[in-house]
Amino acid sequence: MTSTSKQLIQEKVTLTFYEQTGIRKIVSGMAGISLMELAKANDIAGIDGDCGGACSCGTCCVIIENSAAMNLEQVSDAELGILEFVSDDIVEGQRLACQIDVTNILEGAVIKVAT
Ligand code: FES
Repeated sequence: MTSTSKQLIQEKVTLTFYEQTGIRKIVSGMAGISLMELAKANDIAGIDGDCGGACSCGTCCVIIENSAAMNLEQVSDAELGILEFVSDDIVEGQRLACQIDVTNILEGAVIKVAT
């Protein structure tokens, strides 16, 4: 493990979730886990993560707003397939939270739970 990756894992990230009911929850977590894991650890309603992060259930769908979404890794073919399965129209910033690593890129991000 390099010193850079150690720094990433030890870094604390704070972001805002909006549940489907409009309830806002500001949460913090350590980098190195997935956004789905962070959501579940903070009881974000609507993020079930039924497949445990295997990119196969679609129960962790979110919309990442503002510039954070643009700086994330590209959507993989597997993720896109699940997004197309669970959504009639995929909107900008829509992702599977299990496929997003919590890093400083998400600091201050606003994330809405999608249907
Ligand atoms: S937890 Fe199943 S697709 Fe994300």
